[in-house]
Amino acid sequence: MSDRSVKSSDSRSLANLSSDEVQSVVDEYAEIYDGGAENRKERYRSLVNHFYDLVTDFYEFGWGQSFHFAPRRRGEGFRASLRRHQEFLAEQLSLQSGMEVLDVGCGVGGPMANLARSSGASFVGINNNAYQIGRAKLHTRDVAPLCRFIHGDFMQIPTDDCSFDAAIAIEATPHAPDKTAVFREIFRVLRPGGCFAAYEWCLTAEFDPGNAEHRRIRNDIMVGNALPLIAFTTEVCAALSAAGFEILDARDRASESDPETPWYRPLQNRDLSLSSIPRTSAGRALTNLALQAGEWLRLAPQGARAVSTLLNATADALVDGGRTGIFTPMYFFVVRKPGRPEDCS
Ligand SMILES: C[S@@+](CC[C@H](N)C(=O)[O-])C[C@H]1O[C@@H](n2cnc3c(N)ncnc32)[C@H](O)[C@@H]1O
Repeated sequence: MSDRSVKSSDSRSLANLSSDEVQSVVDEYAEIYDGGAENRKERYRSLVNHFYDLVTDFYEFGWGQSFHFAPRRRGEGFRASLRRHQEFLAEQLSLQSGMEVLDVGCGVGGPMANLARSSGASFVGINNNAYQIGRAKLHTRDVAPLCRFIHGDFMQIPTDDCSFDAAIAIEATPHAPDKTAVFREIFRVLRPGGCFAAYEWCLTAEFDPGNAEHRRIRNDIMVGNALPLIAFTTEVCAALSAAGFEILDARDRASESDPETPWYRPLQNRDLSLSSIPRTSAGRALTNLALQAGEWLRLAPQGARAVSTLLNATADALVDGGRTGIFTPMYFFVVRKPGRPEDCS
């Protein structure tokens, strides 16, 4: 079945779906996922939309308004590490007032709000999930003149060529069904001389396709995060070059974490504070139990616990991916579209 036959997401979330609707979204997600890699690539819009309809409220509850990981320094707080990880991209692109920046897969707007406040640059966030766009408008209220949104697909960005001075993508292009195609699209909308800086989810050189445990971890990460596949770091670089970009820098930032605070630490049980509890495995188990009771009392929609269970399994797989070193969610690159701004006719 083509992705076009599935209605694209209206604004909906776990909290405003009926129990039957939650169950049908969960069932359709499972059906798309189980259909195999080609099916996931073909129906990527529905796969991603169903996923974020179901998990956005959980993510905001457990993680906040920025849906990504960060390498954390010794003694640094979780939120401070996320901010520093975002600011790193702003520094790479020399973001400043007067620049027009595309945020590819902008989530609920946390990074964009922070970077608009600190740099004064103007942002356009593109996201195919309507519920998240609504949340992002809320979270960027104080910098609303600097933040606009497009409800659309980053595989077909509905703007003219050469529209942006710079682009960022934080852990969003792992959802793309074709890496070269998404990078080509970002290349198209950048002005010549403009740069694109991003964090990608990748398999590292440690991943051994012949190792069953490695394959299990990769598959659990894919199913729990609506990913059609996970590329190797080398494949990401090859796709950037094929799209026409000049690679200025590309490296895994996971090793920049203090050994005591690896990027996956927030998913372990080692950070105990009131605000971190929902992220830990004990906190996630508690949430799961509360949802079971909530479903029984009809306070939470049927299916909420299934979603929470899926996210718990994913969190464990991410920790395994990090511990074994076969996976990174922070393969950083900054690339440039060759030419000068005046080259764009
Ligand atoms: C892990 S979240 C990261 C969000 C945000 N960059 C952040 O760091 O908070 C991935 C985001 O990519 C968006 N996304 C995935 N596929 C997309 C597509 N084809 N077009 C537009 N947005 C997409 C999702 O809706 C989600 O908001």
